[in-house]
Amino acid sequence: MKYKFLIERDKLKEKPQGELGFGKYYTDYMFEMTYTEDEGWHDKKIRPYGPIEVDPSVMVLHYAQETFEGLKAYKNDGKVYLFRPEMNAKRFQSSNERMCMPKIDTEEFINIIEELVNLERDWIPDSEGASLYIRPFMFASEKNIGVKVANKYTFLVSLSPVGQYYKEGINPVKIYVEDKYIRAAQGGTGFVKCGGNYAASLIAQQRAEEMGYTQVLWLDGKERKYVEEVGSMNAMFLIDDTIYTAPIDGTVLPGVTRDSVIKLLDEFDVKLKEEHFTIDFLIDMIEEGRLKEAFGTGTAAVISPIGELGYKGNSYIINEFKTGDLTKKLYDRLTGIQYGRLEDKYGWRREVKNDHC
Ligand code: COI
Repeated sequence: MKYKFLIERDKLKEKPQGELGFGKYYTDYMFEMTYTEDEGWHDKKIRPYGPIEVDPSVMVLHYAQETFEGLKAYKNDGKVYLFRPEMNAKRFQSSNERMCMPKIDTEEFINIIEELVNLERDWIPDSEGASLYIRPFMFASEKNIGVKVANKYTFLVSLSPVGQYYKEGINPVKIYVEDKYIRAAQGGTGFVKCGGNYAASLIAQQRAEEMGYTQVLWLDGKERKYVEEVGSMNAMFLIDDTIYTAPIDGTVLPGVTRDSVIKLLDEFDVKLKEEHFTIDFLIDMIEEGRLKEAFGTGTAAVISPIGELGYKGNSYIINEFKTGDLTKKLYDRLTGIQYGRLEDKYGWRREVKNDHC
């Protein structure tokens, strides 16, 4: 064991039974380390999951210098797998660079996760669609209320056994096209996984929920015209035989699931247009019967079909509010690889061997 236990629990928690939901339960242990300019990353430890003490003046509480990642560990037949964790490590580095926060090397990021996941492997559910959600996050922990780049940071990794993200599961959801609030603008932090992006998005989500929708479809920040993301997921639209999705050019999060789905399209003879397209184009395509399927992609919900778009007082139904064939095939192929049920010709899976302790 490379990272030492600070304290071992004298009693382990009961494992949850029944519906897991998302983010309701946490395992026995978490990882923690501290960064200072003088010492770099130090005080690395695995400690019991539980409250952390912070001074009321730690900078993250005032100026939101915080970044996070989300990935999952999958269990099948007693084996445990991570899915493309190096992509999360690299995206975390790019988020931290944008937010003036320190770097964690890819190798160390993956080592920490593997060691913690291995320690907690009994917590990984193996029921259909369930997994262990891994949440690495970093925040400014210097005590100072001046606006500046902090000189001290805390990095934590917590683990949560999860089921479905949306109560609808892989059934279609209703999406409201948000034309008032925006998620991101060029030059901002749209491509970054930082808490602030999500905080600013809540008002739109709340408004959508009040109107009976599950999430929002975000339009671009300048003209409220171009389609960008759906809720906290990347958005994909099957028009004729081509998937349309917004490009990664500053405002859209470079999703690991997005990238994987794009690579899988070839297997299903589906073309890709990674370019800007407008909401009016999308509505025309629905009206002409050419928009066949629509779905969001993300680690938490995997693939979430869109069955209806609400826009400017009108409602547009997609694929008779049914999960489309391509959507289902992509979901099965992707989860098959993630859970080790299908051949992994891309080398995406990484087994967490039971030999870290
Ligand atoms: C993900 O799908 O990985 C997300 O980022 C959703 C998360 C914010 C719950």
